[in-house]
Amino acid sequence: MEQKIAFITGGNRGLGFQTALDLKNTGTKVVIGSRDLKQGEEARDKLRAAGVDAEVLQFDITKPADFQKAYDYFNSNFGRLDILVNNAGIAAGPFPGDGPEHTASDVPLEVLHNVFETNFFAPVALTKTLLPLLKKSPAGRIVNLSSILGSLTLHADPKSPIYNAKSFAYDASKTALNAFTVHLAYELRNTKIKVNSAHPGWVKTDMGGDQAPMELSEGGKTSVALATLPEDGPTGGYFHLGQPLPW
Ligand SMILES: NC(=O)c1ccc[n+]([C@@H]2O[C@H](COP(=O)([O-])OP(=O)(O)OC[C@H]3O[C@@H](n4cnc5c(N)ncnc54)[C@H](OP(=O)(O)O)[C@@H]3O)[C@@H](O)[C@H]2O)c1
Repeated sequence: MEQKIAFITGGNRGLGFQTALDLKNTGTKVVIGSRDLKQGEEARDKLRAAGVDAEVLQFDITKPADFQKAYDYFNSNFGRLDILVNNAGIAAGPFPGDGPEHTASDVPLEVLHNVFETNFFAPVALTKTLLPLLKKSPAGRIVNLSSILGSLTLHADPKSPIYNAKSFAYDASKTALNAFTVHLAYELRNTKIKVNSAHPGWVKTDMGGDQAPMELSEGGKTSVALATLPEDGPTGGYFHLGQPLPW
């Protein structure tokens, strides 16, 4: 079986790093994107020490020039891309919290723009740039790191566990990312490419914080499952550990 080539944005720490680690026995060369090259090299070395076939690419998802750099890297080294994990993301501020940055009525517009830039516009633009290489894969897989907090159905339901967990800028950016998943999957429905949204769980990372119930070692499972879906697997879905979530 030919080796698969994967690109994980924000792979130097947290869930991106864990996802790279968990791709270890799947016949995949994992390229982690890291905006700080030194941190990326340290992460790459840790991955290699753990037995992962890993490389690092300096990559800032908010720098448009880096999209073309990524395209050129994958095109010249491999001629294709099999797996894209749109993982890099930011929160609107420490969460849970009740600052204005989490509200719909008072969020500073700069915060809204910044969160949407990293969590929505950038993955859309990166995917668009890399799509010609994913189309060359015999089994392209795109995983958009969403969150259960992107679910409008759950946010609108007073009985749902996330009803009181509202952070408008972050939540809306993940809802928008979910829309991208649905629309792109529709456009690619007659290709070999599958596009899905992942909710990793509430995981102990710098973003998830210490209160999170899920250990980092468990947090890469949904992304890895969607990155390695078989040919008859789903596309255009929104999943947590194999279970569909309501949009
Ligand atoms: N943790 C959770 O409970 C949870 C739950 C649901 C969804 N998620 C989603 O899962 C993804 C990963 O979250 P995490 O918990 O691993 O967060 P994290 O620990 O804060 O790590 C975020 C990663 O994204 C990178 N990043 C941020 N801005 C970037 C930029 N402009 N360019 C390139 N990389 C950038 C960071 O790089 P630097 O090191 O350079 O900052 C870091 O590698 C996010 O999309 C998040 O929304 C997380």
